[in-house]
Amino acid sequence: MYQRILKPLLFSFPPERAHHLTVGMLSTLLKLPGGRHLVEKRYQYDDEALKTEFCGLTFKNPVGLAAGFDKDGKYFHHMAALGFGHIEIGTVTPLPQKGNPSPRLFRLPLDNALINRMGFNNDGVDAMVERLKKGKPKGVIIGGNIGKNKNTPNEKAIDDYVICFKKLHSLVDYFVVNVSSPNTPGLRELQEKEPLSRILSELKTIDSTFPVSKPILLKIAPDLNDSQLDDILSIIKSTGTDGLVATNTTLSREALLTPQNDIHSIGQGGLSGKPLHSKSTHIIQYLHSKSGSQLPIIGVGGIGTPSDAMDKIKAGASLIQIYTGMVYSGPALVRNINEQLLKSRIE
Ligand code: FNR
Repeated sequence: MYQRILKPLLFSFPPERAHHLTVGMLSTLLKLPGGRHLVEKRYQYDDEALKTEFCGLTFKNPVGLAAGFDKDGKYFHHMAALGFGHIEIGTVTPLPQKGNPSPRLFRLPLDNALINRMGFNNDGVDAMVERLKKGKPKGVIIGGNIGKNKNTPNEKAIDDYVICFKKLHSLVDYFVVNVSSPNTPGLRELQEKEPLSRILSELKTIDSTFPVSKPILLKIAPDLNDSQLDDILSIIKSTGTDGLVATNTTLSREALLTPQNDIHSIGQGGLSGKPLHSKSTHIIQYLHSKSGSQLPIIGVGGIGTPSDAMDKIKAGASLIQIYTGMVYSGPALVRNINEQLLKSRIE
């Protein structure tokens, strides 16, 4: 149904419009009498053996929705019906901001990929807080992915992370510190030792003042070299950061089937989807083995099939997330991955 009817329809619209249409259609379907039941029956796949412990939380299955799909916490009730074990909302910033001018999202169908330069368009953390206060879907873990406003200079970035962290602390199950988006000028510089250590240790200190502690994960770029990854590992250790989300989108444009002219005319942005798969898997593998298999990792980047998901798990990820793969393969990808994971767990 997705490949034959919905995908051609959605792909006939500009990508950002198609995104809103998708959630609009899902929302309408869920509101119809019996609609939620129908969707859940089609897409959800639960089994005790899929339950996964990660950073002290129990996930009903290892498949999550990656950050950026639900930037404002508007759609997690809808997306929960599709069978995700967790949904990472954000990236949210303290103040609302429009993001970059459109067009800012592009399809590369020959590569099963997307390029985006959204630039943290979001309604701001207060709007997200209000939505979360209305309730969360039962049984689905909600992560809060936090960032800084474009106009906040890097020297003051820490304040932005602290604001989002404090406001969301009682409302989300885990946090992701995003210093790896390529679309906020200078953001990736925060992955360097000094600023990163400061941000992560400050958040850990603040976390300890709350009655319930929340896991803090760091989301990293796939464009780091081995020595930068070694630095990340030592920072994770010294700051007591709970784990990693690997990876965000890449700046690389290597080995694409899309003609160079088209790539050139799209311009700047982060590449996601199939061409990112092996790169992010390599990074997971490196970090997993260098940490002596001790580091909790969420693997994300280019998962478009159940076998891609298995690659990430074999590389050392405990949980996985998808975004671009769902655009190309449809929502049944969540169930298909869970089916495959279950098979591998009971074999
Ligand atoms: C993203 N991604 C992202 N990541 C993040 O931490 N904060 C964000 O706001 C966004 N926004 C965003 C928008 C769009 C349109 C895309 C395609 C992606 C990155 C995303 O979470 C993920 O790390 C990468 O896309 C790699 O996974 P996939 O898409 O290859 O499965």
